[in-house]
Amino acid sequence: MQNNDHIILGGKPVAASVKEGLKARISALAEKGVTPGLTVVLVGEHPASQSYVRSKERQSAKLGFKSEVLRLTAETSEAEVLNTVSRLNEDRSVHGILVQLPLPKHIDSQKVIESIHPDKDVDGFHPVSMGKLVLGLDGFVPCTPAGIVEMIKYYNLETKGKHLVVVGRSNIVGKPMANLMLQKKEHANCTVTLCHTATPNMSEFTRQADILVVAAGVAEYVTADMVKEGVIVIDVGINRVEDASSEKGYRIVGDVDYVNVAKKSAAITPVPGGVGLMTVAMLLSNTVKSAENSLN
Ligand code: GUN
Repeated sequence: MQNNDHIILGGKPVAASVKEGLKARISALAEKGVTPGLTVVLVGEHPASQSYVRSKERQSAKLGFKSEVLRLTAETSEAEVLNTVSRLNEDRSVHGILVQLPLPKHIDSQKVIESIHPDKDVDGFHPVSMGKLVLGLDGFVPCTPAGIVEMIKYYNLETKGKHLVVVGRSNIVGKPMANLMLQKKEHANCTVTLCHTATPNMSEFTRQADILVVAAGVAEYVTADMVKEGVIVIDVGINRVEDASSEKGYRIVGDVDYVNVAKKSAAITPVPGGVGLMTVAMLLSNTVKSAENSLN
């Protein structure tokens, strides 16, 4: 969509196109007697997690998956979570296991992530998946970075030789994103800079970005003075900020001051309606991939 002189990179048509592309593969699996199976494990009652999980449940059911959500109380022990994962590792009807993060503090998330069989790691968080990603080998790519790559493809954004700056070094977004985009591959091949909380003079780096990916987890962190004219902005943030004028008492904003940054951008993802819509689509895609792999 064109708005004034910047392109709004909406996630909706991209997610729809990814899901449409899965339909033929799901039919081919059905002919072989395989239904993609996704099990989500949700521990506790983190409000945002509950809403993400409902969306995963709804969308996977819509595509005809065998989808299940195991809702465990916040008091569930680490051993019980590990046992649950172990049972799912053995269950041949389950192709994808996703343990929703964050987990309650008494549970070691890394230990849980590493307990998931790498063949069922549709989140792409297992060290085996992450290692493959760094080496440029085929494997499960974490859903949000994979979704951003789909947006880059869909909107035909040139990446080769561009300076891509990532803000945020999380294992979920920043680290995999930087590693994906530096690969010598189509829709990648960027010069990559990864900035984080210890980066001095952040603007000095963000102003050099041809493509700026912001996953800082801070509402409206990137302001117009931090970007150059003509930048492409990918905003991964989803933050609730208080808003008395809204029915819910809050509204959702990204990690970018959208109104002002958009004025300097060639293209920008909105929040909501941008990258956020891609994550579940890529989770479904990873689950179909896992079901296909199970035939080999
Ligand atoms: N919490 C926020 N994003 C994610 C995600 O992509 N996967 C999981 N498992 N938890 C999350």
